[in-house]
Amino acid sequence: MRYVLKICLLSLLLLAVAASVHADVKLPPPQMEGGMGLFEAFKKRSSAAGGDFPIAQLEPEELSTILWGATGLNRGEKGWTVPMSKGLEPYCRIYVAQDEGIFLYDWRVHGLTEVSKENVRAKVGSQNFVKTAPCILILVADGKALSDNFDAKDGAEFAAVAAGAMTQDIYLAAAALEIGARYIHSMNIEEIRRALSLPEEDYPVCLMMLGK
Ligand SMILES: Cc1cc2nc3c(=O)[nH]c(=O)nc-3n(C[C@H](O)[C@H](O)[C@H](O)COP(=O)(O)O)c2cc1C
Repeated sequence: MRYVLKICLLSLLLLAVAASVHADVKLPPPQMEGGMGLFEAFKKRSSAAGGDFPIAQLEPEELSTILWGATGLNRGEKGWTVPMSKGLEPYCRIYVAQDEGIFLYDWRVHGLTEVSKENVRAKVGSQNFVKTAPCILILVADGKALSDNFDAKDGAEFAAVAAGAMTQDIYLAAAALEIGARYIHSMNIEEIRRALSLPEEDYPVCLMMLGK
């Protein structure tokens, strides 16, 4: 009962924050209950084969759940589904590349902000098959937040730890939703920098291909 109450309160909070701040694309509420159990998702987690990657687009509800799992608010206004050093706001951001353009996930409003109308899917990965994924998440380290809080070595490590936690949550959510996912390190860094208009201090950490 307390669990259901918590979920209701969290959903209300997400809706209230979403109503007060602007997002170009409102995401439907993420799935927060039911579905496949965690231990079954552990058993099913895997990378979909790159050469035969599923090409159907995710439903908005599915993308919403995956983004929320990756770095959404799960406790009040300062608690996220992944741990961040010193409890800082997530210093690894998620950009979503689809046919319609590139969007930045905003955990504050659980929505997407348009960054560009460019379809950059075919350009971000250095392996040919990456372009077949209908949805590609681009994880980017927030260089300013990292250098404001950590020395260079810790900052680089902490960004990688954050991306690791986020991508594992993405893998598990994808397993639970029966969506194909694959972690990609081989990126066209300069293309990503250009397409996302990244400031010098920010840098891409990895991609997650998604499709079903
Ligand atoms: C740090 C890291 C980097 C990876 N980079 C790539 C990559 O550039 N291209 C690719 O096709 N797969 C990449 N993968 C996916 C791995 O090849 C895949 O996880 C591995 O084959 C194990 O398969 P599993 O995830 O199904 O257990 C990467 C995975 C990790 C964890």
